[in-house]
Amino acid sequence: MRVGDFVLRVWRWLIQDNIYYLYWRTLDAVHPHLDCPPYRLVLADAERLPAVEDDVRDLPGDLIDGIRRGDMVCCALQGDRWVARVSATLGPRTWRIYGHEMRLDQAEAFVANLETTPTHRGCGWAPELVFRCCDALASRGVRKVFLLVDMDNTASIRVMEKCGCARAGVLITRRRFGRWHAQLALLDDTAWREPDAEAPTSR
Ligand SMILES: CC(C)(COP(=O)(O)OP(=O)(O)OC[C@H]1O[C@@H](n2cnc3c(N)ncnc32)[C@H](O)[C@@H]1OP(=O)(O)O)[C@@H](O)C(=O)NCCC(=O)NCCS
Repeated sequence: MRVGDFVLRVWRWLIQDNIYYLYWRTLDAVHPHLDCPPYRLVLADAERLPAVEDDVRDLPGDLIDGIRRGDMVCCALQGDRWVARVSATLGPRTWRIYGHEMRLDQAEAFVANLETTPTHRGCGWAPELVFRCCDALASRGVRKVFLLVDMDNTASIRVMEKCGCARAGVLITRRRFGRWHAQLALLDDTAWREPDAEAPTSR
């Protein structure tokens, strides 16, 4: 690790302020499939992981760990390398995300780790993968997905718009000496439920 990266990591452990938009989308609506370059789609879950590990050379370790815990990962491949990927955590589940307690019911999922490699950006891979991931989730009985996007991430916000996601609220996060504090402020007109939305949480 370079010295600059190390200093940045320490700094981010000490102090970090971020604001995220929370998006959501129901999976009832039929969505379009976009006009992407040809690619091979791989869907990885715990059952298929051994085959996928043989197939995809550079799947990140944290995603593999997530699959072992029950997550699903969708990858667009060129050869044996991913060019775009996204993961989904299926409910029922409760866990802390940036200090906020996120609860998923049986028919809900949290979609995260959306990334397109720099040379493939701007071709519509990310929204297409989100749609494909939604298809796979819908076939497993999921009816609603949530996604968290950094407020400054214009490309991601654009992806949310193209995917027909609605903004549910704003998650304000602070990290001080490794400890996260978060507060979720919901928009009034959302149909999304979150009983303890106003209560600040920390870990
Ligand atoms: C955000 C991200 C996943 C979008 O992926 P993508 O496959 O490029 O998505 P799209 O092709 O639909 O492009 C989305 C928007 O990015 C912008 N964009 C276009 N070309 C771009 C390029 N070459 N480089 C960066 N952004 C570009 C455009 O605003 C585009 O919207 P438009 O189609 O209305 O013009 C990708 O930029 C990325 O991996 N970023 C780093 C990781 C990250 O931020 N992940 C999101 C976490 S929520």
